Formats: sequence, structure tokens, C-alpha cells
Amino acid sequence: MAKDIENIKGDAKGISALAGRPKWVSGLTRSRNAGPSQIHKDWSGCGFSTSAVHAGTLDDQASGAVGTPIYQGSTFLLGDEQYQSVEEGFARDRFIYTRYGNPNQWALQTKLAALEGAESALVFSSGMAAITASVMALVDKGAHVVASNELYGGTYNLFNQEFPTLGMSVSYVDPRDFDAIEAAIQPNTQILYFEALTNPLLKLVDVARLSQIAKKHELRLVIDGTFLTPISCRMIEMGADIVIHSASKYLNGHSDLIAGAVMGSRKLVDMIWPRLLSYGGCLDPHACFLFERGLKTLAIRMAAHEQSALELANYLEQHPSIKRVFYPLLDSHPDNDLAKSVLKNGGGMVTFEVKGGDSAALSLLKKLSIPKQATSLGGVESLVSLPFNTSHAGFTAKQRLEMGINAGCVRLSVGIEDAGDLINDFEQALAEI
Ligand SMILES: Cc1ncc(COP(=O)(O)O)c(C=O)c1O
Repeated sequence: MAKDIENIKGDAKGISALAGRPKWVSGLTRSRNAGPSQIHKDWSGCGFSTSAVHAGTLDDQASGAVGTPIYQGSTFLLGDEQYQSVEEGFARDRFIYTRYGNPNQWALQTKLAALEGAESALVFSSGMAAITASVMALVDKGAHVVASNELYGGTYNLFNQEFPTLGMSVSYVDPRDFDAIEAAIQPNTQILYFEALTNPLLKLVDVARLSQIAKKHELRLVIDGTFLTPISCRMIEMGADIVIHSASKYLNGHSDLIAGAVMGSRKLVDMIWPRLLSYGGCLDPHACFLFERGLKTLAIRMAAHEQSALELANYLEQHPSIKRVFYPLLDSHPDNDLAKSVLKNGGGMVTFEVKGGDSAALSLLKKLSIPKQATSLGGVESLVSLPFNTSHAGFTAKQRLEMGINAGCVRLSVGIEDAGDLINDFEQALAEI
């Protein structure tokens, strides 16, 4: 059961051990501080729902109100401890200024770390802020990155447009072709960057295998886990060094917030934190409150997403107007063996091809009454979109075909609505196209 962690205000002991040594130079031997100056409990022995509800949550000490209050302040009172934390390099562990850290950010960060089984976490104002800060912290000028050839467009733009201006380069490889991944590694390669489940064809990436390659070549493995969650698989335990999420999707889960999260070892997350300060992508306390509230129901939401997605995927697979369905838990999915061995939850993303091409897919979208036509994913409401005029509109039809995105491809983020209602809605809509 939960056990109390000592109030880390007592941690100043470690700092006095540095007396007499030059400051700022001994990063590896410097004593490390456990987190923010607030009392919290360790929920690591508990299940996902218990951690999601309780880990990090800071009941109001003054009023007794249950749940983390919104600390809508930009700045905090300075005392000896705060001055010392700046001087000794542990300012991340004390509250000084909200861009540096805030109790609402820490409540969330503690919860996220508990869910992912990571030592540490950071929250950001968007998934892209989290990606930019993490990647820039882990590479040097002139670095080379080996990345998936099926990346989220925003990440691709960062690599393609910003990297060259900083003397950095990227090789794009098939995430399932391990020989090609190894062959792409150069002497200046510093990170491997992949997405856990690709968009829109939902290819499942073998994180454990990628981690072996990363370790062999002394590289760091960064995984964007947005399409899956810690409820599906804990990627740090599988060997990822850093896991990044667009929390705008499943982690918050209500399509009402833009946020990002990074999880990893304390040492690596400490390296990313200065980039959060420099690029400025901190998460506002009120947004933290919404994110924390959403995160509390992650486990039960994911169970509902999976149940409706699996039932709908099975229904679509046998429908005469549907050519093909992609869902990791379907026997027909190319990565089904891997999915069965590593996923505890298949998530809510279902991609399928409608007979009749993009015009049939467009008319299907118009006939559906439950899924809303919108980009994004991971909310409680089903969202549907077509890659050809949204995420992959920048590619030609020929390029999309080469990627395996055929005409009529539909991307569906299955919400938590009842599977029977979704199936009835698809039944009537497919009958009309
Ligand atoms: C896989 C993936 N990573 C990152 C992002 C960027 O996240 P955000 O929109 O929160 O910046 C997205 C957004 O769609 C995404 O799908």
C-alpha cells in the first residue's frame, strides 16, 4: 500500500556535502532531490486506476478540500531554501516561478510518472512543445537522428524545417525494418525517434527491439506514445529512454485541452527541463487542473475505448462495403502477434478502407451521426477524418499509395459511446453510400 515519502525539505543534508567543492561543475556527483517541496505518497505498488486517482494529487492543506486546488500564481515567496536551490542547481525541486514549476504541474507530473513507471515527468503547453524541448535537449549541434518514416506532421516539420538551420540531419526509415534502422546509424547519430503506433495505418512499433539497437550503438531511444497510453504498455519498462505524449489526446481525453508530457529517468528529464525554460512551453495551472481531472479516469476510459473499438472493428471487417480494417487486436492486423504479447489495451484507433474510394469515404462521413468530423483523437467522443484531406493532404495520391494509404482510407478515433450505438450508426450510414 501507499507509504509516506519524507518531506524532502530535509534534503538540504545532501547539499551541505558539497561544501568546499566548486559549484556547478559536478553534475553527476551532486546530490539529487526527489521532487517539489510538498509531501506526497508513493503509489507505485498500486493499480493504474488507484495511481490515476491518487498519485500526486495534493488535497488542500488549508481548507481540507479534496483534490488539488488551482494555484493560479505566477510567482512564489522567496526564502533561504529557494535562493539556495538556485545557487546549488536544484531549482526544479522548489517553487520559484510558474514557468519553472508550480504545484499543479507537480501534481500532474507525479501522477504521470506513477502511471508510466518513470522516475520523473514534465508537462508542457502542447505535445509539440514537449517534442521540441526533448529532442533539442538530447542532441548537439551537427547531430544526426534516425526517425520513423511515418511521423506526425508537426514532428516531421520540426525535423525537416528547423533541424537543417541548426546543422542537424535526419534519416527516415521504416519502423519495422530493423536492418534499415541499424544501417542508417552514423557516427554522429544521437537519438532514435519513433512513434509507438503509426498514423493512420496503426503499425505497432517494437520498442524492446528498438531499445536493443539503441543500447548496442549507445543512442537514446525516444518514443512518441500518443496513440497508446501507459494503460496499454509502459514503454520505459520496455527500454525507451524518453516517452513523449501529446496529452491533448488520450491522457486528458476530453478534447478540451492542448498539453504535452515527457516521462523518463530523473537525469534525462532534468536535462529537458532547461529547454522547457528556454522555449517557454510551460503548462498554465488551470490547464494542469483540467489535465489532472482528465487523467484520473484514464484507466476506465481506455477500457471503454478498447471495448467499443474492438466491437466496431469486428463489425466493419465483415461488412461488404469495407475493404480492409486496421486495429492491432484484430487477427488480420500485420502486427497482431506483437500486439498480443505487449499490449494490455488496444486503444481506440481504428482505420479502415471503404470500397468506392475517397468520394465514398466523404459521403460516409456526411451520413454518420455519432462520430464528429474533426481532426485529433483520444477524446470521449468519436472523431472521424480522412487522411487524404487532413493529416496527409500535403502528399500526392501517388505518395500516399506508396505509404500504403489507399483511396477510401478513413481514420476513426472511437470514443467511449456504447458499441451498439456506434454499430447501428455505421450500419445506416454504410447502407446509404
Ligand atoms: C502522434 C502525435 N504526436 C504529437 C502531436 C502534437 O501534439 P499537440 O497537438 O498537443 O502539440 C500530435 C498531434 O496530433 C500527434 O498526433
